[in-house]
Amino acid sequence: RFQRRVRACRYDIDQFTPNFLSIFDSLVPSEEEIAKQNQLVIALSRLINKEWPNSKLYLYGSCANSFGFSNSDIDLCLSIDDKEMSKVDIILKLADILQAGNLQNIQALTRARVPIVKLMDLDTGLSCDICVNNLLAVVNTKLLRDYAQIDQRLRQLAFIVKHWAKSRRVNETYQGTLSSYSYVIMCIHLLQLRRILPCLQEMEATCYVTVDDNHYAYFDQVDKLSNYGAHNNETLSSLLWAFFHYWAYQHDYTQDVISIRTGKIISKHMKDWTRRVGNDRHLICIEDPFETSHDLGRVVDKFSIKILREEFERAANILQYDPNPSVKLFEPY
Ligand code: CTP
Ligand code: MG
Repeated sequence: RFQRRVRACRYDIDQFTPNFLSIFDSLVPSEEEIAKQNQLVIALSRLINKEWPNSKLYLYGSCANSFGFSNSDIDLCLSIDDKEMSKVDIILKLADILQAGNLQNIQALTRARVPIVKLMDLDTGLSCDICVNNLLAVVNTKLLRDYAQIDQRLRQLAFIVKHWAKSRRVNETYQGTLSSYSYVIMCIHLLQLRRILPCLQEMEATCYVTVDDNHYAYFDQVDKLSNYGAHNNETLSSLLWAFFHYWAYQHDYTQDVISIRTGKIISKHMKDWTRRVGNDRHLICIEDPFETSHDLGRVVDKFSIKILREEFERAANILQYDPNPSVKLFEPY
């Protein structure tokens, strides 16, 4: 009977795709907003380059990886090669340099795990965080953006998953749930397994970067891959069903690590992620594509794993049985 229900639902579920697509459309930032973001980067770069002519300011995170919602804060990274100054000194001096701009609430948070300068720009009304020399984040931002260009279903799926995670409050790393970055990686992985996306890091490299003496390479000529997923015609709602069904009922939390670097599921055993080391518990394992010793699920603890899995099950059941899933899924927690 269960089998029959599953089949019946998988057949019907496509009817909800237009509803999910209109939610997607409502979350996408406007051209005007993107122009404002770029205007802010140019204005801040001018100020900073006066003092540090060889530095460069990069946009990273959701504003640059194409998975950003409208009205999100801006993540910036200052790349600067100054052996004399510590990161904290750079942050303090940066806050000082920025006093010359039309900015408000400039704060240097030097004791945070990642030291940043926070500010609000009065010309554009945008808030942003600036970190220093976090270049791997700039590289992983490009990887995510490149994946998004191959098949539009990735961006649609990840927007809906992020919107669900924010509505259900399971997108709060300080509460032990997952980052937006982790959710996007989970979506990429699902689409790799369904052959809608390739594995760019396993293909012949066309893009090379070195960060802190480590070399990274992958295939980035994604305009050549625009037909890659064409043989698979699953719709957005069917992929959403598959996403939640996978994390609710199929993922083996005791053995498996998802890895977009290899496009496969690999074993916890192989990564030596089978026991708790310090604060890293490995209760849900998501390999970072570049910092491969990083489990993006390490923030999850024995309480939040329960909440997370209950939310995956709730979402899977809504997509399976609810007559109005595009409303119910996002009901505030
Ligand atoms: N990042 C990372 N490693 C993590 C978390 C984040 O390298 N464990 C970097 C990624 O480059 C990511 C950026 O920090 O794109 C911002 O992370 P996050 O706030 O999770 O994602 P956003 O895409 O900015 O999402 P949101 O819309 O929620 O702001
Ligand atoms: Mg962000």
